[in-house]
Amino acid sequence: MTITNNDLLVRSATEADAGPLIAVLAEAFHEGPVADWLIPDPIDRHTVYYRYFTDAFRHGLEHGQVYTTSGQTAVAIWYPRLEPTPTDTRERLEALERIAGVHAPKFVLLEEMFDAFHPDEPHHYLAYLAVDPTRQNLGIGAALLADHHRRLDGLGLPAYLEASNMRNRRLYLRLGYTAGPTIVLPTDGPVIWRMWRGAPTTTGGRTSFPRTRPRRRSL
Ligand SMILES: CC(C)(COP(=O)(O)OP(=O)(O)OC[C@H]1O[C@@H](n2cnc3c(N)ncnc32)[C@H](O)[C@@H]1OP(=O)(O)O)[C@@H](O)C(=O)NCCC(=O)NCCS
Repeated sequence: MTITNNDLLVRSATEADAGPLIAVLAEAFHEGPVADWLIPDPIDRHTVYYRYFTDAFRHGLEHGQVYTTSGQTAVAIWYPRLEPTPTDTRERLEALERIAGVHAPKFVLLEEMFDAFHPDEPHHYLAYLAVDPTRQNLGIGAALLADHHRRLDGLGLPAYLEASNMRNRRLYLRLGYTAGPTIVLPTDGPVIWRMWRGAPTTTGGRTSFPRTRPRRRSL
């Protein structure tokens, strides 16, 4: 457990946190340009998002590192990517069809684009960061990020994420990330900012955004 500089207790999440934290994820991501693009109808979106984030939370517990606060007000799902990680594409496609039904093609497209532009350099990937919508703008998201950034700096590792709007992009810029080339989602989709927080260098700087050659992956 870590006490952050604004007295927030950060701890690893467990299966016992599933109910509240899946709700935090589904509700926090419910608004925004990516959500509007993925599922325009808010009622359908609500149903699919609870299924999608149930899967994402359990996947995070099994394969990644999931952190929350003592009050279960926020959740961060990180994946150590110390070497390129292939996805079982057939299994993922079937899972997305189960989760999203008729909306699956856009989820497939989103994950395919994110995967194609993912850097190969060893790093930790922030797949999801969400704060309970009734508790946003109180420094909780920044504190949860800072907690893992300290761990990464200790290990000499960079961090990577995709920012889904201009506003959260600002938060990441303030916390030491730089923005790389963007991803524009097809069929009138929103812009996604790829962001990299380099590993600390001996001269006090940070390693720069790695060059990424888009990979082809077919779900
Ligand atoms: C983005 C988010 C994790 C930030 O956590 P937070 O505790 O609200 O943020 P903090 O109080 O630590 O920092 C405030 C900054 O967060 C960002 N932020 C706050 N609320 C936000 C929201 N609803 N959407 C996007 N960014 C937001 C802004 O950059 C804000 O700074 P600003 O007021 O100067 O614009 C949180 O607002 C959230 O869950 N938003 C919805 C989901 C999301 O966008 N997740 C990130 C995906 S890349």
